[in-house]
Amino acid sequence: PQAPPAREVAHMDWVELKTSVAGCVKCGLCQGRTNTVFGVGDEKAKWLFIGEGPGRNEDLQGEPFVGQAGKLLDNMLRAVGLRRGENAYIANIVKCRPTDANGKDRPPTAAETAACLPYLERQIALIQPSVLVALGKTAALSLLALDPDTPVSRLRGKVHRYADRPLIVTYHPAYLLRNMIDKRKAWEDLSLAMTTYAGLD
Ligand code: URA
Repeated sequence: PQAPPAREVAHMDWVELKTSVAGCVKCGLCQGRTNTVFGVGDEKAKWLFIGEGPGRNEDLQGEPFVGQAGKLLDNMLRAVGLRRGENAYIANIVKCRPTDANGKDRPPTAAETAACLPYLERQIALIQPSVLVALGKTAALSLLALDPDTPVSRLRGKVHRYADRPLIVTYHPAYLLRNMIDKRKAWEDLSLAMTTYAGLD
């Protein structure tokens, strides 16, 4: 008997979605990957943190934010009383590592983002988080229809909306590692996210 036709991403369950991402060839990033990086955490999480895309360590391990930036992200989670896996889910805009001709990390292109976004949208629909936190400019501007040159400084400090949910923008933890002075602002953003979340109860 023939296998039933694959369901559209928008109708997939977790198993179908994970299988589909693991075998995805929708854009050229599939050619350079070691692993896809689906996302990790509580599938009923109230908080969804969204990064840009896997870097080298994430590509090797198949898990998001496992390097230095990930340690800082774990501290950011703790600041709002969360742990990865407990009431928090961590995902990225793209599931495969984008690199330039020299093998260095780069942001995903608009086409790569467009190809991958349905997966994140389905993750959001399945998780049903109460608050989304976009980590950095790429994540924020991939989700918000705004001028692509808008800096994070202009995106933070307000409650945006994506997929019918509140979205807070803050600095990417890798940026914060290089610009410790902005850490205080990131903590302000997390506190805005907390207030937003509390207001939803
Ligand atoms: N940076 C990201 O945006 N995502 C990761 O998973 C790792 C680093």
